[in-house]
Amino acid sequence: MRTDEVETRRLTVDPKSPDPTAISEAAELIRAGKLVAFPTETVYGLGANALDTDAVRSIFTAKGRPSTNPVIVHVPDAGSALNLVSAWPETAERLAAAFWPGPLTLVLPRAAIVPDVVTGDGPTVAIRAPAHPVAQALLVASRVPIAAPSANRSSNLSPTTADHVLRTLRGRIDLVLDGGPTASGIESTVLSLAVEPPILLRPGPITRAQIESLIGQLAASLPSAAGENVALPSPGMLARHYAPRTPLEIGGADRVRELLDAGLRIAWLGFDTGSPFAADRLIYIPMSTDPTNYAALLYATLHACDDANVDRIVVTPPPDDDAWAAIRDRLTRAAAT
Ligand code: TXA
Ligand code: MG
Repeated sequence: MRTDEVETRRLTVDPKSPDPTAISEAAELIRAGKLVAFPTETVYGLGANALDTDAVRSIFTAKGRPSTNPVIVHVPDAGSALNLVSAWPETAERLAAAFWPGPLTLVLPRAAIVPDVVTGDGPTVAIRAPAHPVAQALLVASRVPIAAPSANRSSNLSPTTADHVLRTLRGRIDLVLDGGPTASGIESTVLSLAVEPPILLRPGPITRAQIESLIGQLAASLPSAAGENVALPSPGMLARHYAPRTPLEIGGADRVRELLDAGLRIAWLGFDTGSPFAADRLIYIPMSTDPTNYAALLYATLHACDDANVDRIVVTPPPDDDAWAAIRDRLTRAAAT
């Protein structure tokens, strides 16, 4: 046991109307500079007072996260975001009105009040207003913005349940508010409004088409060459992120056959309702053909594959359209070695 280990408490709360006593206990911890994991509509976040440098530093320690990777600041609403930015363009106003509270993160020029540790010393800050009632209640009760990356050890799969959080962070955080499984299942869309035209840094539940219909065309794709302001436009875009422990590849029936013939134990995530063929050493997992439902269960399914101790996870390639962009992005990163 590590000597710096803390006792991690779990408080179960009703996801729709959380008990105010539990929320105020969690809020007191946040105000005291402690770490509290909580559900959002995307994944569980690991929260600390965003205005307290030491508290935010302890997020990085708990996660084993490189200090150059900035964290998202959570606020209850657009009004509270204004204190944290030095510019609030018309596009931000329109997007916030349409999608907040919700799974959209906006990157904007920072205000001086935001500590360097939050922004990775950069000139911008990422902000979102989460829709989950537990996250909302915690933000309101804490009366401070809450910095929160996903509540997992760095480069592991994001957590969609409190159990997932405890798997990697037990003993490293003070409390997890257990509000059951999260709804979206994948992390928020990250959009930078700090460059012109705006650029999608991470695809997510709010699609490119939804954003473009409100504010016009975004930059075509991520800059591939490192320009000076965009050396690492979003460090979360590092390859091999969002990955299960088990090696994962994208492939079809032929590849599954090949791996089975080579003697491997396989978990196969496909779109057919039943296994296209039976085989020993094969666990077939039927996935939804609807991208929203697919995303909701993706990480929980990958966590379960890790638990099943298979040698390889094979995922049938998802369709090639905008509605599946976030899922393709996470799978491609999970497959990167
Ligand atoms: O859904 C979500 O966004 C969840 C929940 C908890 O809100 N949070 C989350 O945080 O996924 P995290 O830290 O795991 O991912 C945040 C992403 C990272 O890719 C990070 O590099 C990027 O946002 N990011 C944060 N601040 C940024 C900034 N100022 N400029 C560019 N990218 C930034
Ligand atoms: Mg993360």
